[in-house]
Amino acid sequence: MRARVTAPPTAPRLPRPRAAARNELIRALRRRQTLRAFDARNLSAEMLSELLWAACGVNRKRGPFGGVGRTAASASNSQEIDLYVVMADGTYRYDAPQHRLELVVPNDLRVLAVSRGQSRDDPGVAAPVRLIFVADTERLVHTRGFREPGLRDPAVQRAYYYVDTGLIAANVYLFAAAAGLAVWFHNCDREALSAVLPLRATQRVLFAQTVGYPPRRTRRARR
Ligand SMILES: Cc1cc2nc3c(=O)[nH]c(=O)nc-3n(C[C@H](O)[C@H](O)[C@H](O)COP(=O)(O)O)c2cc1C
Repeated sequence: MRARVTAPPTAPRLPRPRAAARNELIRALRRRQTLRAFDARNLSAEMLSELLWAACGVNRKRGPFGGVGRTAASASNSQEIDLYVVMADGTYRYDAPQHRLELVVPNDLRVLAVSRGQSRDDPGVAAPVRLIFVADTERLVHTRGFREPGLRDPAVQRAYYYVDTGLIAANVYLFAAAAGLAVWFHNCDREALSAVLPLRATQRVLFAQTVGYPPRRTRRARR
């Protein structure tokens, strides 16, 4: 049977994305960017709390597969990424279900939040908060979600935990844009962080994201 020849579809014209200009999310998307300059001012406890909740906090008591739901999606709702919050007085793990910080190391590890190549000229040296993304492959293998065989395959695991990291990082970027914070996603000193953080064999240090207020001149320039 011969296929019927039809005219190719005309691509729909996209109007300029102005209509929703008053929508807060669209405003945040317009402002979303990496800023690599920070002032030393601390984030208030309220700001830190909102930042972490926006990153990967619990937004539904009943999420997929019997677990809670989070602001960032994860493969099979495995929730295998932990955020370690590195600040001047110590390093904490964000316990999202309890929405609290748990002390992990009572030291300032902020200098390790950049890769060795970038450590001499670290633009985030003054920033009060550096988030470290740590994946736990055990949670992929033993997910309560859909247990696809790929969850045991290291290559598939890697793909999933990098995607899941990106979804959290994007939330942090958008929250920062809406809240007037500067944010920068970057590599970190994985080896040094893995040596000082008490991690299990199934945990991997992946990336970091530095957060703080932009220097005052940047804030003025944005108005
Ligand atoms: C996976 C990934 C790794 C990155 N690593 C670094 C890094 O090590 N150092 C750095 O200065 N920026 C790093 N960045 C930031 C990018 O350079 C930045 O997002 C990109 O230039 C686009 O700029 P924008 O975020 O302002 O749109 C990284 C971004 C991503 C997504």
